[in-house]
Amino acid sequence: MKILVFTEKPFAPAAVKAIENTVNASGNELEVVEGGTRADLLEAVKNANGLIVRSDKIDGDVMDAAPELKVIVRAGAGYDNIDLAAATAHGICVMNTPGQNSNAVAELVFGMMVMMCRNQYNGKAGTELKEKSLGIYAFGQVGRNVARIAKGFGMKIEALDKFVPDAVMEGEGVKPVHTPEELFSQNDFVSLHIPATAETRNSIGYDLVMKMPKGGVLVNTARKEVIDEEGLIKALEERPDLRYVSDIKPDRAEEFEQKFASRVFFTPKKMGAQTAEANFNAGVAAAEQVIAYLKDGWNKFQVNK
Ligand code: 3PG
Repeated sequence: MKILVFTEKPFAPAAVKAIENTVNASGNELEVVEGGTRADLLEAVKNANGLIVRSDKIDGDVMDAAPELKVIVRAGAGYDNIDLAAATAHGICVMNTPGQNSNAVAELVFGMMVMMCRNQYNGKAGTELKEKSLGIYAFGQVGRNVARIAKGFGMKIEALDKFVPDAVMEGEGVKPVHTPEELFSQNDFVSLHIPATAETRNSIGYDLVMKMPKGGVLVNTARKEVIDEEGLIKALEERPDLRYVSDIKPDRAEEFEQKFASRVFFTPKKMGAQTAEANFNAGVAAAEQVIAYLKDGWNKFQVNK
């Protein structure tokens, strides 16, 4: 059977090699297309039985072009790039690879916080993370790694996640809070780890950001879609003490940069999971999951029903 790896943003070469070895050992055939166009994707999926992607948009048209496709694995956590309803209608199983790239994203959160506290390394005196408070919005795999690292920095940690019992957070030395308002008003830094869903889109805006204490920093390594950009711009205009750092440019990046200069920073391409280790872990897990599904329907991490 043919397994297609289609990634606009390439995996590290060692990860591609490991995926190749895994697929070869299973007796399946592998095609890798990196940095391809949508036309390349539509062509390559024609005879694919399994598909591995990252944030690449997979909609019903891609599925229509892939009559043999049985399984799509998103090598990573968030699967908002895949049309789940269309996949279900096409009889295609969609899985993600939870946890495989979460440490990489969590480490970037601290890279970004330090960078903002040190004024983007411009030589002026900055501040430290020690004894500052950090609010973690969603206590999943990334959120938990963020909490683990924050302890090493000597930060006070709170988290909000309606799906995680208080005792779990408390067991990890994290104070649970139960509303976004509490999280934003009580923490010097707020780090977003919510997925992009109908419920969360545009949910972080003026009212919440204005609640942040003086000098607050909003850190977004989740999705740009969760931000109400107009509301955030208004808050940053009214509060010159606030800062925003995001792993991926917002739609209105130019306006943010013009208005707020060094109070904002955006990676040009999503970098959170872009480490050799995360690529290796997520890529090999994705390959193993595709192979197991094609062999005997293994679907432990299926996200569409
Ligand atoms: C994820 O959801 O796993 C991360 O956002 C990483 O996405 P990427 O594979 O596009 O870097």
